[in-house]
Amino acid sequence: MAESWVNSAESLGADLHLELSGAGSRRAVLMRALREAVRSGRLAPGTRLPPYRSLAADLGIARNTVADAYAELVAEGWLTARQGSGTRVAQQVAPVAPVGRQRTPARAGRPAYDLVQGRPDPAAFPRGAWLASARRALTLAPHDAFGPGDPRGRAELREALAEYLARVRGVRTVPDRVVVCSGAAHALRLMASVVGGRWAVESYGLPFHRGLLADEGVRTVPLAVDEHGAKVGELGKVRAVLLTPAHQFPTGGPLHAERRAAVVDWARSTGGLVLEDDYDGEFRYDRQPVGAVQSLDPDRVVLMGSVSKSLSPTLRLGWMVLPERLVDDVVAAKGEREQHSSATEQLTLADFITSGAYDRHVRRMRRRHRRRRDQLVAALAERAPHVRVSGIAAGLHAVLELPPGTERAVVKAAAWQGLAVEGLSDYRHPDVPADRHDGHDRRDGLVVGYATPPEHGYAGALDALCRALPPE
Ligand SMILES: Cc1ncc(COP(=O)(O)O)c(C=O)c1O
Repeated sequence: MAESWVNSAESLGADLHLELSGAGSRRAVLMRALREAVRSGRLAPGTRLPPYRSLAADLGIARNTVADAYAELVAEGWLTARQGSGTRVAQQVAPVAPVGRQRTPARAGRPAYDLVQGRPDPAAFPRGAWLASARRALTLAPHDAFGPGDPRGRAELREALAEYLARVRGVRTVPDRVVVCSGAAHALRLMASVVGGRWAVESYGLPFHRGLLADEGVRTVPLAVDEHGAKVGELGKVRAVLLTPAHQFPTGGPLHAERRAAVVDWARSTGGLVLEDDYDGEFRYDRQPVGAVQSLDPDRVVLMGSVSKSLSPTLRLGWMVLPERLVDDVVAAKGEREQHSSATEQLTLADFITSGAYDRHVRRMRRRHRRRRDQLVAALAERAPHVRVSGIAAGLHAVLELPPGTERAVVKAAAWQGLAVEGLSDYRHPDVPADRHDGHDRRDGLVVGYATPPEHGYAGALDALCRALPPE
């Protein structure tokens, strides 16, 4: 028997791929194929197999052959057969994980608490509201939504974003200058391929972004950061500067008004480009909203944003607001289809924004993050009053300042308390000179992601944190 792949199991509502090849009787070949599918994990424990009649019809073999193969595999323990629930893959068969998809490592040693910054509590995802938007979006989508699509992204989403960003972040744009992408990371890759050359980046920033730029051939040079954000007066000869003006990542200050104006002047006088990573601009607590630098000069500043901090990083939905002259190049860099976001997800987000659900969600999350931030500050005031906490006016994380030379020991002590948390040095640009002591560039600290844990785990996480901090 030498057939190839066969799709079956209409009655399952799913395809069952069986490779019927090799020597032996039809029954033996089918049994081998089923065993292989179970062993490799393609058929998970509990999966219901198609009735033997339909599998036989799909494979073009006798019903009895399938029935015999099922019976024998039941006898061998691979399958179970129960009246009323059909033939299923046995629960106790432990398939070997396929290459490249090894099973999750043992849970032993996994920290009980997680204060690593990076994402909102996944349990806070607004499933009901998102589902309502998805339902509406899909119901109302024009037929062309299922066609090839505009490489800039769905017009509905670009219109919704242009209106939203103008209203909430003070962005000045029109939908034609908005390009949908799959997040800040994608936006950076696109800008790297369009702009190239040397870029200045903040001396503290996301290592992932620096790595990604290096992959794209962009050499990054560190720009010192203090409590007023990046020291843009020190900008050297670079083609672009990547900044986090609303809330310096991760140290936490907003870019000072004078520096906002100065960096735009720099771009105008040198022809350089400002790349504004507006990653958590909506989450402000104690101060007046800090608008986007983009509003100062939409022809010199590219604004990049995503729903990664507000909804979930797994949606992979983001946007770029571009100067008009860059739109075509960015769209060309994006290509025909490979890097396009799903049209149905785009339409869902468009509905989520225009229906007001996004505003409601952000407000709810803002209250929740603020409450958590207050709990963190209160816990430190009570149990570690000597530890200064900064960067708390906005965002989803804060920085705890540590005495010089103690950071590693504190991260280790936290691990002993079952707490995962990162040191500030993890974010430092590797080219910051070791001897630089201008008061800000080589600090010891902890970056505490207070939005990350589930509600029930937050008090425990704070307790573990306080126990790990050095005594006065
Ligand atoms: C500094 C910074 N920018 C942007 C993002 C968002 O990245 P993305 O949109 O690729 O998920 C993050 C992480 O969520 C971040 O820490």
